[in-house]
Amino acid sequence: MRFGMNEAGSTIEGSMTEAENMARSMGDDVAVVLTNPNLPDNPIIYLNTAFERITGYSRAAAIGRNCRFLQGADTDPEAVRLIRDAVDNSKELSVDLLNYRADGEAFWNRLVLSPLTDDEGNVSYFIGIQKRIGGGGKKPNPEREETLVALRELQHRVKNHLSMIVSMIRLQAREESPQADFGTLSRRIETLQLLYEEMSGRDNGDANVALGAYVSRVASTIGHLDGRQGIRVNVQTVSCEASPEIATQIGFLVSEILTNALKHAFTGRETGTVDLTMEMRDDDTLRIEVSDDGLGLPEGIDWPDGGGLGSRIVRQVAISLDCKVRTEARPDGGTRIWADIDLGQLG
Ligand SMILES: Cc1cc2nc3c(=O)[nH]c(=O)nc-3n(C[C@H](O)[C@H](O)[C@H](O)COP(=O)(O)O)c2cc1C
Repeated sequence: MRFGMNEAGSTIEGSMTEAENMARSMGDDVAVVLTNPNLPDNPIIYLNTAFERITGYSRAAAIGRNCRFLQGADTDPEAVRLIRDAVDNSKELSVDLLNYRADGEAFWNRLVLSPLTDDEGNVSYFIGIQKRIGGGGKKPNPEREETLVALRELQHRVKNHLSMIVSMIRLQAREESPQADFGTLSRRIETLQLLYEEMSGRDNGDANVALGAYVSRVASTIGHLDGRQGIRVNVQTVSCEASPEIATQIGFLVSEILTNALKHAFTGRETGTVDLTMEMRDDDTLRIEVSDDGLGLPEGIDWPDGGGLGSRIVRQVAISLDCKVRTEARPDGGTRIWADIDLGQLG
């Protein structure tokens, strides 16, 4: 997978290794886990790589286990009781508790957890967001920590989107294999997580997100997850800001369109190029465009009409951003997909 990046005029061309890519997309370390309370003992069913780094446990060692394996001798039983109460009563909770890494080192974990309900109000998953806020030793003072405010705020904002995805996945799971759905769930959570990091890293209390940087990170992550050697993704963004709600929507839009291109446009081909551009236009709109030199859309398909979960998400996002997603065949056989978003919408 090769990446060319150009953000706000500065060009970083060339290939990026996988490790560089990951480091770039991760920024501040924020762990994310999903647990499934409908399985015995509410096990972890998804975790991100930041979780592996923070806890020292590999994915293989942690998936399928209840998160309590992180607790140890000096973990406050009162904090654990609060969590148990929140889980039993499907409530949200933020708590700081002492946890232990795989190598035995203690650390303070700022845990924010909330239930994700489906359309019928049943809890399908719990999402837990963890941030290391200190080594073992004295408990950090939560009131002085701006991280908690940022973590909570973002959690509120992203929860609705995640719930929407979870319910759509449930719908689709009836039609397709659950395995396929799970992969897409992971990718969508990564997209939210990047936004989360974008927000929790800030300390100036600014409510807006640097949209260009965020879109670049989303593209880099999607390229990393879905891309192949020989397929080049060029990213060119402008520097502008958006509210977290709008940034979330735009993140989904970019992630779904890009995934679609990487999955389908180059079947049977060794090489290809996808260009993602963000551009301010004279009519006070922000144009987001994904253009590929691949095989082109199959005859009779007018994406994002019809199609699977990805196109459904794109349609949903288009409604909430009050924009139209347009598709056009390129003269060379590839596909151009773009959306013009009113700048007034950015918040
Ligand atoms: C989504 C989620 C994330 C959690 N993350 C942690 C964690 O990072 N550290 C921890 O000590 N406990 C964590 N827990 C709490 C434990 O899994 C468990 O709920 C808690 O220990 C209370 O239950 P118990 O009394 O049965 O152990 C998490 C729980 C949930 C649902």
